[in-house]
Amino acid sequence: SGPQCIAIDGPAGSGKSTVGEQLARQLGYLYVDTGAMYRAVAWLALHEGVDIYDAPALEVLAQRAEIVISHPHISDGRQYTVTVNGRDVTWDIRDTQVTGAVSAVSSHPNVRKILIAQQREMAQQGRVVMVGRDIGAVVLPDAELKIYLTATLEERARRRHVELVERFGATSPQVPSLEDLQRGIERRDDIDHDNMRPAIDAIVIETDYLSVPQVLGAILPYVEDTV
Ligand code: C5P
Repeated sequence: SGPQCIAIDGPAGSGKSTVGEQLARQLGYLYVDTGAMYRAVAWLALHEGVDIYDAPALEVLAQRAEIVISHPHISDGRQYTVTVNGRDVTWDIRDTQVTGAVSAVSSHPNVRKILIAQQREMAQQGRVVMVGRDIGAVVLPDAELKIYLTATLEERARRRHVELVERFGATSPQVPSLEDLQRGIERRDDIDHDNMRPAIDAIVIETDYLSVPQVLGAILPYVEDTV
């Protein structure tokens, strides 16, 4: 019993990764962050000097990118490990260059087709929490439970800032100003807009004034209601 697939969608900073990972852990489900897959292709493009606006070249790149998401116990704060063609890129895919390039990469329909096919395959086994932008509407339209998390731009930028300060320290050059973060997220929202698809049957949760446990508390009754 319980849902075989839980889809969680939402924009950058909506809390979907944190909530998705914790929900999966509580339920003993597999957690799949699809953003990491687009980031892995973007990383590979930058690494190999492939033009992120060259659609045919990116399609070839995505085709031969072997992306593996696994869960070894490495305690450096990672939620999971991502490798692309055998190389651990778990932290590299979070850097500012990849973050700046990923929306252009994910906007190519043929890149999406390739990654979506892989995502569907990962969900085949069931008991999966899959997180992204288009999971409930496009990747897994039959998911028994669909959640859409939202938050204002200001709150999403603030969360990202807190996250980076926790990881790198307040004075690190790795931590952009709040204003820069907000501009970056706004820019990404803009490019991602077309591929951001809230499913019509998703439960929408506005998270601005909710803590992570409160968001989980709002989701769990729906999990229990699904047979
Ligand atoms: O979730 P995250 O911010 O890591 O996603 C990185 C980028 O990957 C997004 O800005 C978007 O361009 C792309 N993406 C997507 N579809 C998904 C997940 C992520 O287009 N399902």
